[in-house]
This record gives sequence, structure tokens and C-alpha cells, in this order.
Amino acid sequence: MTALDADPVEALTPEEARRQWGLIAAAVARANRAYHTLDAPEISDADYDALKRRLTAIELRFPALAQAESPTQAVGAEPSETFAKVRHAVRMLSLENAFEAGEIVEFDDRIRRYLNLPAGAPLRYTAEPKIDGLSLSLRYERGLLVQAATRGDGETGENVTANARTIGDIPHRLTSAPELLEVRGEVYMSHADFAALNARAAEAGEKTFANPRNAAAGSLRQLDAAITASRPLRFFAYAWGAHSEPLADTQMGAIDRLAALGFATNPLTRLCEGPQALLDAWREIEQRRATLGYDIDGVVYKVDDIGLQHRLGYRSTTPRWAIAHKFPAELAWTRLEAIDIQVGRTGALSPVARLLPVTVGGVVVSNATLHNEDYIAGRSASGEAIRDGKDIRVGDWVQVYRAGDVIPKVADVDLSRRPAEAEPYIFPATCPECGSDAVREEGDAVRRCTGGLVCPAQAVEKLKHFVSRAAFDIEGLGPKQIEMFFEDDQLRVREPADIFTLPGRDAANLAKLKNREGFGERSVSNLFQAIEEKRRIPLNRLIFALGIRHVGESAANLLARNYGTWEAFEQAMTAATVGEGPEWEALLAIDGVGRVLAASVVNSFHQAAERASIDRLVAMLDVEPAAQPVTAGSPVAGKTLVFTGTLERMTRAEAKARAEALGAKVAGSVSAKTDLVIAGPGAGSKAKEAERLGIETIDEDAWLRLIGA
Ligand code: IVH
Repeated sequence: MTALDADPVEALTPEEARRQWGLIAAAVARANRAYHTLDAPEISDADYDALKRRLTAIELRFPALAQAESPTQAVGAEPSETFAKVRHAVRMLSLENAFEAGEIVEFDDRIRRYLNLPAGAPLRYTAEPKIDGLSLSLRYERGLLVQAATRGDGETGENVTANARTIGDIPHRLTSAPELLEVRGEVYMSHADFAALNARAAEAGEKTFANPRNAAAGSLRQLDAAITASRPLRFFAYAWGAHSEPLADTQMGAIDRLAALGFATNPLTRLCEGPQALLDAWREIEQRRATLGYDIDGVVYKVDDIGLQHRLGYRSTTPRWAIAHKFPAELAWTRLEAIDIQVGRTGALSPVARLLPVTVGGVVVSNATLHNEDYIAGRSASGEAIRDGKDIRVGDWVQVYRAGDVIPKVADVDLSRRPAEAEPYIFPATCPECGSDAVREEGDAVRRCTGGLVCPAQAVEKLKHFVSRAAFDIEGLGPKQIEMFFEDDQLRVREPADIFTLPGRDAANLAKLKNREGFGERSVSNLFQAIEEKRRIPLNRLIFALGIRHVGESAANLLARNYGTWEAFEQAMTAATVGEGPEWEALLAIDGVGRVLAASVVNSFHQAAERASIDRLVAMLDVEPAAQPVTAGSPVAGKTLVFTGTLERMTRAEAKARAEALGAKVAGSVSAKTDLVIAGPGAGSKAKEAERLGIETIDEDAWLRLIGA
């Protein structure tokens, strides 16, 4: 085991014990999953036993950490490839939004009218920050945390219990709590933790997150709870769902009770009398926004009296007794110092504003998008005037705005501050990276470099796309490494095929790689292994990875499914001519493939340099054919199946893929729409439900016979 067991359990502080418990419980859960579900044990039996012993020792010393669902109590792992669904006992609602002070006065008026309160009667509200994270519902039974679920669609969320248990702000056990209590609140990540996480990810060549909310969501929704445990998530409690007895008779009282139970509650929560006090609270919270250290996107007002909340009740998805008063998109004025042109994977020339750095809502912005040449000129794509037709020039004072997680944009320009010498911007007609013509096709808002792979910017962006998650997903080879390898004259990674020749290069070359920043002996061999593992690649991933314009993941899936093998696809595309002939017609006949997409695919196979690059790549790969749905004669075509219990001959994922390949739909739960249930040992409620509904249920052997496997 690791340093985790270096300290005797007796020496642990409660905080350290909780941290270790989270890490070890997650490691045990992961080992269980690897062993039972994936059939690929990751640790030895002795290490596994040591982990469990340590966990038990911690639980004996700190009983608050012990719980019914602890891995010390569990046998095996859930046979699931995704999160189980959880139906919320009480729906998780959203909030009505307001942006103007007038809407808040109207909110208060409406409530008074609804309750028929006499004019001037006191009406109190709470005002609290609206945390920009993701909501979570925690179910406690007899004080023990038994389930954590995401909001999902409000009715049904995902079971993320193992992950939630790794969050330090979430108590595992409550003392003197109601028999049943669902605590609801927001999972979020602080700015500092977000920055550190992204810095680590960038260093490791992994994907970075766009903002703290995405980072929090991505971290909570991890199938491997050990990953969640390693991410610094936090939780604010602000509401409740099902409960066996009320927490208090006011909102504020309930928040105080949640705090007394051990939850983090937001310290800026306050009581306000009437709408003016709400607006004052809003302004004050907005002023503190930049220094809070976490993202908030407004202030939530709630009627304080819970009896009145009950009387007010709900509309279809929002309570009448609460409203979210959002902050406006954040704006700032600054000087446009230069316009740079970036060239993307498909050759698109994108203008980027280089700005005199300015703080917009607590974030320093020095770059913003200018969209395209029409936008700079003050025209929309259809030629109409935008910004009253004002163009944007270098030297201008421009208004920059950030809304939520989007890239900052230049929104407006102040003509009164335009320098006399400012010249209209002339959009380049040649590629700034390779000098090829940059042309704008009719109906396209974007000007594109025609250099193809000759253009270094396109080549490097194509490579980044090639190794990205939905494409080849090569561990240890992220955008940063791609840039480094691309620029290196000796490593010469200039096109995807070069990645696969890396492991076979001569020793002198590799020695250079080993001396590179961030690359040791170990990481080089890990990288080579990761590359080797991806020589065998499913057809759909390969097609997506080629980075053909208009071919996203779903188009790649369609093409793969329809052509089945690389050979068939390649021959058809080679034989096809844009606009005519049987191959073109066959391509267009695919449901979901339009003319633009079809032409783009055919053209990329007829463009000599691009085609040669594809051929060099494919020569080094072993392309897995796409599973063809053999629906003709399939006994389960069009049927809805449910798998439950443990499957012994194949993993759940495999069984699902087989069934889908035979044209069946695989559902997660049994309902009247289910046609057939396949139940392995340990099947529980789903098999019972099938019996109740009279749905045919068979075992794994019968299933294998049915599909002729
Ligand atoms: S109360 C019945 N309070 O905002 C009302 N929600 O836009 C339940 N949120 O889904 C929500 N901070 O995820 C409430 N202090 C706060 C909040 C808050 C953030 C989120 C929550 C909700 C969403 C609605």
C-alpha cells in the first residue's frame, strides 16, 4: 500500500481520517469494479485486503465514517457501466429568472396578491448567492448518508453516492437529524482549486476545463470515484427534499439547522423585509462577487415563512415563492490593440481581438473573439447592419463582455474615442500562416485557407483533433505535446501517421525525447505503450479523427455503420464524384448525410496531399469494422430489453452492444414497454417488476442461445 497507512489510525485527526477514508473507499470501489465488472483486476489480492483492513480500522476509530453502503459492507460491485438512475422522492425544481429591479417589485406584488396580504403587511424573504455549480440531493436515513443523486431532469437523476462521499463538505453521518432527510445544495469548485486542477491537467497534456462549473460537473460525474476523490469539490446546502419532520418553520431557521447538522451554508445568506431590501442585498452581494473565490451568477430570494411557501406552492417546474435575480452579462471597456488571425483545423481564419488587459467580473481578459470579417465590418452574415453599422478598428475603445462560460466577445465600439488615424480593418485574403489564398465560399461567413496540410496551422490543429478524446484519445499526448513534437525538427510529427512511427524511431531520436521537458524514461515508455494500444481503432473513431470538415462524431458513426469496413468506405469515396454517380447517390441515401457533408468527405479523398496522408496513416493501423446491425432475421430487432443481475459470459457493456447490434433497444429499467428481461444471478427489483408486469424473463444461457452466440 501507499503512504496512507504510514500513520497509525490512532494518530489521525478526524479531517485526515475522512480524507483517507474517501481515498481508500474510492480505491476499493475501483478495485471492485475492475475485478467484478470489467474482469480486469488492477491490484493484487493482498493489496486489496490491506486496503479493506485499513478502511475497517478507520471506521472502528471514527464510527461516523462507517455506513451501510461502505465498501467494508459491500460484496462485489454494481454490474453497471453507467450511473444508476434515481427517481427523486420530491422533484428537484429550477427557479424563475429575473434581470431587472422592476421584476423583483413585481415578484413581491404577485406573492402579496396570491396570499391576499393586506397592504403594508410585513413579508420577509431570504437573499442568498446563486452558486454556479450543479445541484445535488443527499438522502439521509436514520442519520446515515445512503444516497446522493444529481438533478438530472428534475424527476430522475443519477446515483453518484460513491463520488459524493469523497467530498469533504458532505457529512456521512448526521446526529440528531430527522429519521429521513434529503438535503439539497450545490456542488462547486473554488477559483483557486479550479486553476490548480487545470494547471495539472495542462501539464499532463490532458483536457482542461472551460470553467469551474464544468470542472465540478466533470469531477462529480466520474465512474471512478477515485478521480472524484482527487478533485477538490465543495458543497453548500440551501434546500431540502423529502423529510420526516420539518427542519424549522422559516427558511432562515432551516438554513441554521442545516449548518448545525454539519453542512456548509452560505455565509452571505440574510433576511430582508420587502423588495427594496432585496435589491440592496443584491447590490451588496454583486459587489463582493469578484472576491468570493467561487462563481455565483445571481442572488436567490425565497419567502422566509415555510407555511407561506406551502400556500404559494409550485408552477410546473418552479416554485412561486422563490426567484433568481441574475447578474447581467459582465461588461468592460478597453482598447483594441491588435487583431490577430488564428487558423483552425479546417482552415477557418478567425479574428481574435488583442486587448489592453481589463478585469471583467473578476477575470482578466486580454483576448476576445471578433467572430468573422463581416462582424468586424458591422454586418451580420446576411448583410444587415449590426451595432448600427459601426465597424471595429485597431485603436478603438471596445466593449467586452463575458456571459457565463463563453469566450469573451467584443460587443460594441465607442466612436467618440476613435483615434483620428484609425483605419478600417482589412481582412487578409491570404493565410497568415502559410501564404495560401484564403477564400470565402458563397453563403459561408468564414474565409478559409486553401493550403490544406501545407499550412502548418491547419496541420497542427488537425493533429490536436486527431489525438482528442473522441478521436484516438492517446494518453499523454495532448495539445501541448503535439505542439512541441510538431515544432521539433528531429521528431517530425507533422501528420497523424508520424505518431505511429514514433515508437519505432532510432534510439538517438528517442534519447532527444527523453531529455525533453516533462519527459522521463518512464513517461516515454508510457507514451509509446499508449500509442501502440491505439493502433487498433474502431472505424467510427478513425473517420472522426481524420478531421474532415462537417464530419463530427455522429456523422462519423453514420458513415462507419453504413460502410462497415475501412476498405468499403475508402473504395466508395475514391469511386465517388461530387454530384453524380451511384457512389454519390449511395452516400446521400444515408439518413442524416446531406450534400454539404457528402461533398466534404468525397473531396477530402480526392485531394492528393490529404489522401496520401490518410493512406500513410491507415497503413499503420488495424481498423476494427463497425458492428453492423444485422436486423434482418434478428430475434430481438425493435425490441426493448433490460439486463439485470450479474452476467457471467460477457460484461454489461458488451451485452448491450451485442443487443444493439441486433437492432434491440436496451433500457435501464423495467416498464410496460419492456419486451424481454435478461436476469443473471443477484437480480433484484427489476426481475420482480418484470414478474409483476408479466414480462418474459430469461437467463444468460437462454439469451446466448436466442442470439445464436
Ligand atoms: S433553491 C425549489 N438556492 O440554481 C428551489 N438554488 O436555476 C430549489 N442554485 O437548480 C433551488 N444556488 O442548482 C437554490 N442558493 C440557491 C442556489 C440554487 C444555486 C441552483 C440550483 C437550481 C438552479 C435553478
